[in-house]
Amino acid sequence: MASAGNASTSSKRSKTLLTSNETDTDGGSQEPIRFYGRRKGKPLKAGRLAFLDTLLPKLKIARPTRALDPRTLFEHKPRQIWLEIGFGGGEHLAAQAAANPDVGLIGSEVFLNGVAGALKEIDARGVTNARLYNEDVRFLVPHLPPASLDRIFLMFPDPWPKTRHAKRRFFGPENLPEFARLLVDGGELRVASDHPVYIRWCLQHGPVHPDFVWQVAGPHDWRERPADGFPTRYEQKAIEAGRPPVYMRFVRRPRATAV
Ligand SMILES: C[S@@+](CC[C@H](N)C(=O)[O-])C[C@H]1O[C@@H](n2cnc3c(N)ncnc32)[C@H](O)[C@@H]1O
Repeated sequence: MASAGNASTSSKRSKTLLTSNETDTDGGSQEPIRFYGRRKGKPLKAGRLAFLDTLLPKLKIARPTRALDPRTLFEHKPRQIWLEIGFGGGEHLAAQAAANPDVGLIGSEVFLNGVAGALKEIDARGVTNARLYNEDVRFLVPHLPPASLDRIFLMFPDPWPKTRHAKRRFFGPENLPEFARLLVDGGELRVASDHPVYIRWCLQHGPVHPDFVWQVAGPHDWRERPADGFPTRYEQKAIEAGRPPVYMRFVRRPRATAV
């Protein structure tokens, strides 16, 4: 499924999102430090286990070892490629895929119960245009070529509210250049959060980044979910708990053209 590519270019890039200088506590691991919580939750029911056994192998993206053209993951020549990082239970991923059958959706999630939930949603909706990466997204992203994505979703990412953990936030000065590399000109980075620290952080770093333009005309732009958006589980929980979410859309500026 994956296309051949330039291995050395893709491994050179891996420093940005993979933060390969940070290792697990034994200091000897080649794995980047874990930026996520649980990989497994409650024991899975038989039906969900069956999805992991039967449907996941058909949709799963293997960990790339060299450049991966995401278009080669799909059979339907997608009009655009969208990536959702940390899709949780997959409600948003499956809904976007169902609503946009001409797009190819890649979802990444480390939490196995979430992956099983997404498979259930995908099956229930008859979705055929979604592919799943059930590992740390930082092993995938550096292998994607420049301008290979049209949209990136960060829906209620883990907020890492402590200042000393700020580097772990997916949205931020370290990763914005990588998102800018991945997005086509005019491509969109969408982030939503209900956490005040994270929202402040996004507004501190997103609007001033030279490669992005914050799409904002008035309060409805951050108070209301985009018209073509779909709810997520964390969003529902936040609303029920009285924490109004904030939605932000950043459009990638056109790359400078040589004269
Ligand atoms: C707060 S939850 C939000 C889930 C979902 N987007 C929602 O709104 O309901 C953040 C999710 O990101 C996932 N995650 C965190 N770090 C990740 C990584 N490096 N690669 C893939 N998924 C990750 C977590 O497992 C978790 O499910």
